[in-house]
Amino acid sequence: MRLVLQFSILPCLALMTLLCACNSSTEQKTKTSTDAKTDENWWKEAVVYQIYPRSFKDSDGDGIGDLQGIISKLDYVKSLGIDMVWLNPVYASPNKDNGYDISDYQNIMKEFGSMSDFDALLKGFHQRDIKVFMDLVVNHCSSEHAWFKAARSSRNSPYYQYFHWWPAEKGKPPYRWSIFDEKGDAWEYNKATDSYYLHYFADGQPDLNWENPKLRQEIYKMMRFWLDKGIDGFRLDAIAFCSKDTLWPPLPAEYNGQWGMYYASGPHLHDYMQEMNREVLSKYNVATVAEAMGDVERVMKFVDPERKELNMAYYFEAIDFGYLPNEYKMPDPKGFDLVAWKKVYAKWTEAFANKGWGTIYLANHDQPRMLSRWGNDSPEFRDVSSKMLSTFILSMRGTAFYYFGDEIGMSNIKFDKVEEYNDIELLTNYAQVKAKGGDLKRFLEGMKISSRDNGRTPMQWDSSSNGGFSVGKPWLKVNPNFTSVNVAAQETDPNSILNYFRNMIQLRKKEPTLIYGDFTLVDVDNPAIFAYTRTLKGKKLLVMLNFKAVPASINTTGLDLSKAKVLIGNYPTPATTGQLKPYEAVILEL
Ligand code: GLC
Repeated sequence: MRLVLQFSILPCLALMTLLCACNSSTEQKTKTSTDAKTDENWWKEAVVYQIYPRSFKDSDGDGIGDLQGIISKLDYVKSLGIDMVWLNPVYASPNKDNGYDISDYQNIMKEFGSMSDFDALLKGFHQRDIKVFMDLVVNHCSSEHAWFKAARSSRNSPYYQYFHWWPAEKGKPPYRWSIFDEKGDAWEYNKATDSYYLHYFADGQPDLNWENPKLRQEIYKMMRFWLDKGIDGFRLDAIAFCSKDTLWPPLPAEYNGQWGMYYASGPHLHDYMQEMNREVLSKYNVATVAEAMGDVERVMKFVDPERKELNMAYYFEAIDFGYLPNEYKMPDPKGFDLVAWKKVYAKWTEAFANKGWGTIYLANHDQPRMLSRWGNDSPEFRDVSSKMLSTFILSMRGTAFYYFGDEIGMSNIKFDKVEEYNDIELLTNYAQVKAKGGDLKRFLEGMKISSRDNGRTPMQWDSSSNGGFSVGKPWLKVNPNFTSVNVAAQETDPNSILNYFRNMIQLRKKEPTLIYGDFTLVDVDNPAIFAYTRTLKGKKLLVMLNFKAVPASINTTGLDLSKAKVLIGNYPTPATTGQLKPYEAVILEL
C-alpha cells in the first residue's frame, strides 16, 4: 500500500516526525517561560469556531447549507462565546472536492448564495464582534477556472504558464504522486496542448504555477479583494505544496517514499510566504493559519515572527495517532497510545513556548467527529467524554479551533455502504482498494471511524425532520441520532454538552493562565489520564482529563491539592484529588 503511506496532507503527514524522548518524572517541565516572552495578541486569545457551510443550515430547501442559513444562526454562533469563525470555501466551485476546487475566487458558490449574502454575513458577524477567517485555496484551483480553460486550449495562451506542464514530445512525465487520483498519478494528459498538467490532488484540481510571478500577483490581488471587504484573516489550505522544483527530479532518497513531505519542501516556499506577507498581509490587521506539515523545524518556519510569514499553524502529528502503519486511515483496534500522544502535545507546546504559535484542534472537515475518534460515542459516555474533550481543547496552550456540531456531541454517522459517501478522498481510496482486490468490507469498517464524511453530516438543530437542517433532501444524510442529539434539546439544559462548552469558553476568557500560561505535563507516563498544569504570574491551574471509560488515578506528587478550588468539572461532584471517574475532566486552581 505504497500510495496509502504517501497520502499525507490530510491524515498523516507527520509520520516522519519523531516523538520526543520525554523522561518519566512526575512533573515534566516543557521549558515554557511565557511570562516575559510571549507577545499578547488577539488571535492567540481567540476561540475559533469552524463552520462547514454546506452542512450548517439550509435556507432555501435545496438540501445544501448556504450563507443565508448561516445568517439565520448568527445569534446562536454569538451565544457560544466564540471570537472568530473559519468558513470553509464559499467560492464558486464545481465541488469535486466540496469547494476546494475553486472556479472563481471572487464569486460565491451558486448553492451558497451571492456576494451580497456574503457581505451581509460578514456584517452580521462583525456586528456581533466575531471575526471571520476565509479559506484560501491557492495551491490549486479548479479545472473549470477561466485561467485553466484558457491554458488548456493552447500552449500560446498567456495562462498556460499559470500551471505546470510537461510537453508530450519529451516523453512520459517524471512520476509525481497524486492524492485524489485513482491511479496515483499527478500528471494528466491534455490533447489540445499535447502536454500533461500537474495535479497533486484530483485531476479537477490543477496545481497553480507559483514559480510564475504573474500568477503570484494575481493571487495577491485576489487576497486584497477579500481583505478590503474587511475579512479578518485566512486559513491557507495545502499551502506548503505551492512551490515546486520544476526540474522534476526523482523523489530524493532522504524522503523515504514520502511524497507529501517532499511536496512540502519546495525550493521557494518560504520566499513566497515572505513575499505574500510583504505585499499583502503586512498591510492589514489580520491573522493567518497555515495548514502546515512536517516536524517542528518545518512548521516553525511558517510562524517564527522574525521571518514575517504567517501567524499560526495547524500541525498533524497528534491528529494522525491511532491508525495502523502503512494503511489508509485504518484504525488500530488497540486504539491510540495516550502516553505517546501526550508527549507529542508537550513537544509542540514546548516548541511554541517562546516563539511562534500553534493551534489546538481535535476535529475539522478533514477528520471524523472528535467524540467518536478521541472520546466515546456510546450513550453512556457521550456526555462526559464530549465535555472532557472540550475541556482539553480550551485549556491547552495554542489557539483553540473548534468544529461545528462538536458543541452538542455530534458523532460519526458510520455509513454501511460506499454509495452513502460523498467524499472524493474516500471514493478514491475505495477504488484503489478495489482495484488491488483488497478487502472492501474491512476498508468500509475502518472508514466508520476515520472517514471525512463522518464530520460533514448536517448540523442537528432540533428533532424535526432532517434535524432542522433543511426542508429538502440533505446532500449528505443527517445522523439519525438527531432526534435526541440536537441544539434545541441542549439549550435549556444547564448541564448539557452545549452549555458546558459555553462555560468552558467563559473560563478561558477569564483566565489568561489558560491562554498564555506555562504548560507542564503531570504524571507523564500515566496511561489513562492526561494531566498538566498551566501557570502564569504565580497562579497555578491543574487540568486532569481521564481519557478512559474506567476510573483512574494519577500521581500528583509535588503538587499541593489541599486548598484546590474547582473551576470547572464535567461531573456533579468534581474530583479534588487524583482519583478520576470515567472520562472525568476537572480544572483546579491550586
Ligand atoms: C486541504 C483541505 C482538504 C482538501 C485538500 C485539497 O487539506 O483541508 O479538505 O481536500 O486540502 O484542497
